[in-house]
Amino acid sequence: MKIAVFVSGRGSNLQAILDYRHIVKAIDVKIIVSDKLDCLAFEIAKEHSIKVLSVGKKESCISYDKLSDIFDEIGIELIVLAGFLKLIPIEFVKKYENRIINIHPALLPSFGGKGMYGMYVHNAVFQSTAKISGVTIHFIDPDYDSGKIIAQESVDISNVKSPEEIAERVLNVEHKILPYVVGKFVEGKVKIMNNRVVIFD
Ligand code: GRF
Repeated sequence: MKIAVFVSGRGSNLQAILDYRHIVKAIDVKIIVSDKLDCLAFEIAKEHSIKVLSVGKKESCISYDKLSDIFDEIGIELIVLAGFLKLIPIEFVKKYENRIINIHPALLPSFGGKGMYGMYVHNAVFQSTAKISGVTIHFIDPDYDSGKIIAQESVDISNVKSPEEIAERVLNVEHKILPYVVGKFVEGKVKIMNNRVVIFD
């Protein structure tokens, strides 16, 4: 399955997906897209000789319309937002309905929404005194963090002493659950039934 991965930062989730190709060989990452003109994730892309593109309104970025045409030419079937921090335009979301997935470092619908990313999430979780946090993989819809939930995994944070500890424990789980879900998409084992997402063995 031909996949595009959207990134904004260091790309550790991208790396986890690329590493998982030895388990699900049909994972074919064709292109890495960022809102940034350069980011650490682009270094990972170059190590694997994967095409990179910058999208947005900035100079030397391409538009989403152009990106959509490029995706059509390549035959992109699944889009994975792996630490992508911008809202995807509604036209693009509608074109790829139920084919854009995002990873959020908390248990949605808690601790999600506009401005809730990275350490903002873990600080809010820490201040809430919650005893568990976790990871959510969900479909993208036109708002922040509000699409159908595909998969979640909880993380015990009952003994953490800082938001940074939460971030570390959650990231470790992210690196397991995102490749697993991408692999299940590639294997055609993710279905929507009665408005809920089911992953088959
Ligand atoms: C992850 O924590 C993810 O949950 C969030 O952005 C971060 C991306 O990290 N959406 P990386 O760039 O994949 O290392």
